[in-house]
Amino acid sequence: MTIGFIGTGIISSYVVTGFCKSGREGIDIIVSPRSRDKSAALAAEFPQMVRVARDNQQVVDEAEWIFIAVLPEQALDVIRELTFTPEKKVINLVPMLDFQKVREIAGPLKLLVDVVPLPFCSQGIGPVVLNPPVDEVKELLSAIGTVVAVERPEQMALLRTVTALMSPYYMLLAKMVGWCCDNGLDEPTARAYVTSFTGALSQVAADWPESLEDLAGEMTPGGLNWQALEYLKGQDNFVEWQKALQDVLERISKK
Ligand SMILES: NC(=O)c1ccc[n+]([C@@H]2O[C@H](COP(=O)([O-])OP(=O)(O)OC[C@H]3O[C@@H](n4cnc5c(N)ncnc54)[C@H](OP(=O)(O)O)[C@@H]3O)[C@@H](O)[C@H]2O)c1
Repeated sequence: MTIGFIGTGIISSYVVTGFCKSGREGIDIIVSPRSRDKSAALAAEFPQMVRVARDNQQVVDEAEWIFIAVLPEQALDVIRELTFTPEKKVINLVPMLDFQKVREIAGPLKLLVDVVPLPFCSQGIGPVVLNPPVDEVKELLSAIGTVVAVERPEQMALLRTVTALMSPYYMLLAKMVGWCCDNGLDEPTARAYVTSFTGALSQVAADWPESLEDLAGEMTPGGLNWQALEYLKGQDNFVEWQKALQDVLERISKK
């Protein structure tokens, strides 16, 4: 199976690395020459699996699956210069790309879907959002993460919004670790504890059969967790996180 990438930038580098490290048999990857340094680095790191095309058209001609990963303002112009045939399967990574225009420009395609991968797909972990749900695409993307498929573009926008909480979440971890260090613990010990602790919390939440509010309420009345939760609720802390999400969604929706 040949997978092609048009736009070999930051996210394509992660996705290509994810496929190459997935251990899946029979994957052949062809990347567009731009960015030159990144495409050359991928071919050098995975010489058995990755080759650099002469140009974008060679990617389209040789690949069964074609990832589009250029910047939003470049996307339609890049697609306009290419000739597609109806058996091509196109995976778009460009936010809010107008699919009607793509179909007008590219003509019939076997499939055209929206996908949001995240940097950690290079390690085969984390969610990869897909819209609409198509089994063949789910199977392909399961090599690089946990596929979360949604039925409608508006639902995809909500999950795209949640990705804006990566930096705030890392900052929360940094503050927990920093507080431990300020009070006398060494950084490696604090970081090992905090990351293992938060990793376990997420795992438990994923498998918890009831609501997450209910999980948050699983504590001794008047105990330590109760004390911290009541304090943060009193500061409207959780409301602020939802306001941050709402602001990001409004920004995304205006584009
Ligand atoms: N970064 C993420 O985590 C992430 C996650 C999901 C989706 N996305 C989306 O994925 C897209 C790419 O994002 P990115 O972060 O990877 O940005 P990026 O690093 O700037 O990648 C864009 C790439 O497109 C290349 N390019 C420009 N014009 C081209 C052309 N005519 N033909 C072929 N390639 C061309 C650029 O090459 P030059 O350097 O030579 O100009 C660059 O390698 C964006 O639409 C972004 O919103 C990003």
